[in-house]
Amino acid sequence: MEKQTLFARMKRYWPQYKWSNVGEMMQHNRLPPKECHEDFRGKLVVISGATSGIGYHTARRYAAAGADILSINRNPEKSQALCQELRGEFGVRCDAMVADLSVLADIHRVAQELKAWPRPIDVLIHNAGVYLNKRTETVDGLETTFAVHYLSSFIINYLLLDRLKEEGRARILFVSSEGYRFAVWGLDLDNLQFERGGYSGLKAYGSAKTAQILSMHRFAELLKGSGVTINAMHPGMVATNTGNENNAFYRWYKKNFIDRYSQSPAVSAEALYYLGVSPELAGMTDRFFNLTTQENLAPPALDLEMAELLWPISMQLGRLSGGLQ
Ligand SMILES: NC(=O)c1ccc[n+]([C@@H]2O[C@H](COP(=O)([O-])OP(=O)(O)OC[C@H]3O[C@@H](n4cnc5c(N)ncnc54)[C@H](OP(=O)(O)O)[C@@H]3O)[C@@H](O)[C@H]2O)c1
Repeated sequence: MEKQTLFARMKRYWPQYKWSNVGEMMQHNRLPPKECHEDFRGKLVVISGATSGIGYHTARRYAAAGADILSINRNPEKSQALCQELRGEFGVRCDAMVADLSVLADIHRVAQELKAWPRPIDVLIHNAGVYLNKRTETVDGLETTFAVHYLSSFIINYLLLDRLKEEGRARILFVSSEGYRFAVWGLDLDNLQFERGGYSGLKAYGSAKTAQILSMHRFAELLKGSGVTINAMHPGMVATNTGNENNAFYRWYKKNFIDRYSQSPAVSAEALYYLGVSPELAGMTDRFFNLTTQENLAPPALDLEMAELLWPISMQLGRLSGGLQ
């Protein structure tokens, strides 16, 4: 692949863009999720960011169907409250790992704990996320959106690969977003974390979600034939706490404009239940769903050469090649 200047990426993707792809997305945005009414008793669902919004509703949806929940959250009090609620209301088992998924040491610890967890994993949902208008860095010097949305799921999947393959049953789900389209010209590998400027909340969000989808293509290859599937989904536009870390103006704008036109995160939970449980999805892998409707991806998220270039960078940034394993 030629050098990744903006011009080179525009030249590469522009001819592949189709207006019909955007039209398809707009149509899909209006469809309700398909539902699955199967029981999920005795199964184990691992989910990150279950203390609020989509994650919280999804944990409840699975617990209501009898599944045991292992949640990964950053806030110990909220984690405890969640587990008490799920145990009390649904009589399921609920455990929680406390971890800040922007911190490499925490991500590696969680991955090791999951690896050693004494029960097979049936569904693994990477949901935790943030939306930040201003660029911030984590304790490891990583851009926060990139670390939470992309690197944490990359590291956990990578370190769990062998175990998941041996078990041969998990469905891995990324709570992605149509916002991946904000990375209109794909990833800039020379400025992946906007360390050289050009940051905006939307661009960082779009890049991190695009990187996650690109990693899905590679993980799907590595999981081929194992029985484990990996898919990404857009959870709809739903009213949650997302963006609350931003300033008062943004929060006012979100509450009065975005949230007014948003649905309940219970809709996302219904879709995540269907994608994790429905027999109709058995064996389906490396797909993108708008809620539960399969959708074609925009060109930058289909770029397998870019996915290949991103892999060693992620290994290095995630301290997977040498060091913190
Ligand atoms: N809302 C939408 O319309 C929408 C649309 C498309 C995609 N999404 C995606 O949906 C996912 C869930 O977002 P949401 O809308 O439900 O937002 P939310 O209500 O803010 O929930 C986000 C969850 O992630 C957790 N989290 C954030 N940073 C974390 C960190 N560093 N370590 C561990 N956990 C962390 C939060 O923990 P706390 O409870 O401690 O804050 C919370 O549990 C995200 O991946 C987002 O990109 C949302």
